[in-house]
Amino acid sequence: MKKYRYPKQIPFSKFVLKSSTIAKNPLPFHKQFFADAGDSFCVKPFMNPMIMLTRDAEIAKHILQKNHKNYHKSELQSKYLSRYVGHGLLTSNGDYWLRQRRLIQPAFHRKKIQNLLGIVSDTIDKQVQQITAGKTIDMYPLMNDLAFDVVGRSLFNYQTDAKTLKRLQAIIEELQLFLVKEIRMPYKRGWYKISGKMAYHMKLVAESRKILSDFIEERRASEESHDDLLDMLLNATYEDGSTMDNQTLIDEILILFVAGHETTANALTFTFHLLAKHPEIQDKVVKEVMSLDENLDSLARIDQLKYTKQCIEESMRLYPPAWITDRVALDDDSFGDYTIKKGTLLGVSFYELHRHPKYFKDPLQFRPERFSEENKKETAGYYFPFGAGPRLCIGNGFALFEMMLSVEAVVRKFTLSTTQTEIETNPLVTLKPVGVTARFEPRT
Ligand code: HEM
Repeated sequence: MKKYRYPKQIPFSKFVLKSSTIAKNPLPFHKQFFADAGDSFCVKPFMNPMIMLTRDAEIAKHILQKNHKNYHKSELQSKYLSRYVGHGLLTSNGDYWLRQRRLIQPAFHRKKIQNLLGIVSDTIDKQVQQITAGKTIDMYPLMNDLAFDVVGRSLFNYQTDAKTLKRLQAIIEELQLFLVKEIRMPYKRGWYKISGKMAYHMKLVAESRKILSDFIEERRASEESHDDLLDMLLNATYEDGSTMDNQTLIDEILILFVAGHETTANALTFTFHLLAKHPEIQDKVVKEVMSLDENLDSLARIDQLKYTKQCIEESMRLYPPAWITDRVALDDDSFGDYTIKKGTLLGVSFYELHRHPKYFKDPLQFRPERFSEENKKETAGYYFPFGAGPRLCIGNGFALFEMMLSVEAVVRKFTLSTTQTEIETNPLVTLKPVGVTARFEPRT
């Protein structure tokens, strides 16, 4: 029989005993287990394949990049997430995923995003105008509205009314919350079915798909061009010249909303918190922003916001919105000291990896210059906010542009301050900020 070599195994009983506390917040447990076992550890649930969790950058690159063909997304994404938010790029595997990725990738090329920047910038300005000066504000809801609106307007330009977009936002958020419950408390699945909760949420899925179907039908009937993502997706052709049918389009649009709004909202909230907490760093950002010629177009401004970008990158190191990802081994594999069996579920904790002293000196310190021209070569090998390999985030350029323009718009108008020295996070599908507030004073 083949011998497999796994990292140190944590007894499954330890997990079962603490399951309800782990379900609430797995981060402290991951931290403890890594401290006890090293950069990788594993757990073997009864009757199920081995689970291995790692914070090792070489293993991350092996799974996500070097030998990515041997790894698929797990059922958490391909089955459960897709049940609620569609079978699209984020949640599919294999040939289907590759065909969709090739089709959609061109819509996210720098040149295409450049065409969307007008919409993105207008949407950000409108949201920033709504911020009440002289008040302490809970930032996440604000950033969440901003990020949802940016994706919504980039997809549908001005076709949609605000009320319908809000309804879609509420549904998507409710579905994601339910999904997290289902994943963390699988033993309640039977109850969800009997109590009608499952049926209620499937109704929400149907409602969200109907909203999108109406948008698409309306657009197909329109003769005008809208210069938005929906136009690009409608016109994108497969190798045989065909285009996406409505159901495939709905899947992909839902995925863009899900993958693109909460992640960005989290990153923006953490970034503004860190700027509020470090006034000297905020001052440097303000100096950079104020030195910009306001008549420059968005792309030219983005190109000059170098320090602002470093702040965002450093914020995503400390608080990676996609804090973990998973893969399943399709075949036996070996890497480093380990040989793993087909079927092993692998988790890469970007959160722990980004905070590992082996990779980052004084890892808990907020130091944007880690990402300066001179230093960024050093950090590149250990930095995965957008994943790695062929499944790297398709919206990474879009997200960075959006975040840079948002920081610019906010610091132009406001000085941020905070009394919060420590903040709470909640690792759901993404790493969410909890109760993060800042005071917005008008810049004089
Ligand atoms: C700060 C913002 C964002 C972060 C941190 C982020 C992070 C990530 C990460 C880590 C992955 C890879 C997941 C894995 O390998 O399992 C991913 C995939 C993806 N992201 Fe993002 N993302 C962000 C914004 C966006 C935006 C704005 C969009 C689109 C509008 C987007 C669309 C996607 C899609 C479609 C995928 C799946 C790609 C594939 O598997 O081919 N993301 N994202």
